[in-house]
Amino acid sequence: MASTADKFKSNGSFLGDVLEWVDARFPATALWNDHLAKYYAPKNFNFWYFFGSLALLVLVNQIVTGIFLTMHYKPDASLNASGVPVAFAAVEYIMRDVPWGWLIRYMHSTGASAFFIVVYLHMFRGMIYGSYRSPRELTWLFGVLIYLCLMGEAFAGYLLPWGQMSYWGAQVILNLFSAIPWVGPDLSLWIRGDFVVGDATLNRMFSFHVIAIPFALAGLVVAHLIALHETGSNNPDGIEIKKHKGPDGIPLDGIPFHPYYTVKDIVGVVGFLMVFAIVMFFVPEGGGYFLESNNFFPADPLKTPPHIAPVWYFTPYYSILRAVPPLFNSQFPGVVAMGVAVMILFALPWLDHGAVKSIRYRGAHYKTALAAFIVVFLILGYLGTEPVTVWGQFGNWLGNADRATVVARLCTVVYFLFFILMPWYTKADKTKAEPERVTH
Ligand code: HEM
Repeated sequence: MASTADKFKSNGSFLGDVLEWVDARFPATALWNDHLAKYYAPKNFNFWYFFGSLALLVLVNQIVTGIFLTMHYKPDASLNASGVPVAFAAVEYIMRDVPWGWLIRYMHSTGASAFFIVVYLHMFRGMIYGSYRSPRELTWLFGVLIYLCLMGEAFAGYLLPWGQMSYWGAQVILNLFSAIPWVGPDLSLWIRGDFVVGDATLNRMFSFHVIAIPFALAGLVVAHLIALHETGSNNPDGIEIKKHKGPDGIPLDGIPFHPYYTVKDIVGVVGFLMVFAIVMFFVPEGGGYFLESNNFFPADPLKTPPHIAPVWYFTPYYSILRAVPPLFNSQFPGVVAMGVAVMILFALPWLDHGAVKSIRYRGAHYKTALAAFIVVFLILGYLGTEPVTVWGQFGNWLGNADRATVVARLCTVVYFLFFILMPWYTKADKTKAEPERVTH
């Protein structure tokens, strides 16, 4: 079937001629066809399939608002005439004096949390429908790399307003490197660029945030989509539509991505923008979860805030870091556990030995394990936002241990068991038979 671009070229108009000229030099029509007009996606995509295009939307939002913020921001930790760090004052200037600056800043800061909400839901979709499994392992691996970049990007970005949480958060996280045996102290000095978090640190984080990581991120997103389009999309039934093709070689259960899903995705975009606008205009700080109240105070190296917690999207891992007890006074085991908790996502495609991909046809084992994983991830996330004393202490019989720490330890164990036991429980699961063709 001819796509819009093909028809356009053959209608003899001026624009058709231009397209023909371009096509002789650059595969514009071929790219359009391969990735949109003749990319056949399963016809049973549901709600969960909105989050890929939404992630793209949020990425564009971050880049565009980021460009405008950079026009007015200055990465400078020195104090201005009023004794306030120049970087902090620059953000206040954007909020108060730059026309629409407050809007651009909130679109960017609320956008960061939106990015993680969208990406977490996108990853969850991958987990319920087994999208990470063969043949889409590389799509998943590029996804995990994107997730790592996003974390680095968010961390570097949070440092830029040079508020109390920027400063002390960076202090806590960058100092973790010094827990690595032997090379740690030198490594963390090298990363900070100074003996303490300071102007050198701010400048390098600025450079990571505005150029190095976005560049890597953009490349990874392209690789992510190329890999996905090579294998074709998975779907809520977790079956391969390429197994049933018509005489024209087109999957019987496939529909062209454009116009069907481009139009459908607009519904997701409108729904998302409504929620995003409400949050941005009415609760831009997300009740202290998106922008922490302590970050409205300028960085002060002489005043440690009583409670230092990262932004919500890091807190499950922060909880794991705090839950693992130190060894010989070293934080290293916690640092390793935190690192492994993220890195283990790379192994997911090879840990799952289930006979089926989609949760629709999985048995009780996988459903229970996934439910437990989500619950502990949320509990760890909550606990990471609070001081370890939030739930008081157990009595003498448990050595007066903080209740929250004990719960975080249990949750950490469940978190890792989800992955470690996966080869076993997915194999032993009593699965249902998959349908031959997609269902609705
Ligand atoms: C900037 C962040 C990201 C962007 C822009 C992005 C974009 C997309 C898009 C547009 C799709 C196709 C539409 C869809 O299936 O929803 C997709 C599919 C997919 N993404 Fe992402 N993605 C991102 C991050 C991630 C991450 C962090 C992971 C996992 C760790 C991931 C794993 C997947 C998988 C497994 C698929 C295939 C899903 C299927 O066919 O069922 N993505 N992504």
